Amino acid sequence: MKSIVVLISGRGSNMTAIAQALRDERWPARIACVVADRPGAAGLARAREQGIDTDVVDFRAFDSRAGFEAALASAIDRHAPDLVVLAGFLRILGDAFVDRYAHRMLNIHPSLLPAFPGLHTHRRALEAGVAVHGATVHLVGRELDMGPIVAQAALAVRPDDDEDRLAARVLALEHRLYPAAVRWFVEGRLALQDARVVLSEPRPGETRCLWGG
Ligand code: GAR
Repeated sequence: MKSIVVLISGRGSNMTAIAQALRDERWPARIACVVADRPGAAGLARAREQGIDTDVVDFRAFDSRAGFEAALASAIDRHAPDLVVLAGFLRILGDAFVDRYAHRMLNIHPSLLPAFPGLHTHRRALEAGVAVHGATVHLVGRELDMGPIVAQAALAVRPDDDEDRLAARVLALEHRLYPAAVRWFVEGRLALQDARVVLSEPRPGETRCLWGG
């Protein structure tokens, strides 16, 4: 049984999608704790509703990033997780923290990386006039929103898309993409070859590239 700690800052819809898939598909894993960086994160209540333990390490209580990250690491390590899942965790992480969880920390980002790291990805994608947009799950590296790509979900941008419509369609894809990628990790089917991710023993229909509408 693998142990997962999920870090959130907000509504936690990706965390919920992962928790549901884990239950429905009976993965050999459990979410040991959902940890938020602020007490007002709406996802905390959603986790509790599903019977998942929660914890808060409030970033406002610390005057340095190092202090916050040390407290966060001890809240995580208490559960000795095999995997740390960043699910809308909106803090920039220092090198020591990233290195501590090297090869066992995943993130989801709402763009087709390496395009549009950082904030306001949907607005920037529309402004750039891209025809294809989406989301990426990756192993967390030292550079913001970067690291070996595990899987990507893509969709065609529609002429009448605005930021909200595009965000909603990408989010629906995220809810399919992230559980699949976490499941592969839990099943031990992800490996790094030359700093690139390889999925072993793909089953029929399983692909690192998901297409949506
Ligand atoms: C998601 O769209 C996720 O991709 C994004 O935050 C949202 C969290 O939603 N993450 C980032 O922008 C990371 N750079 P959720 O709390 O409902 O899962």
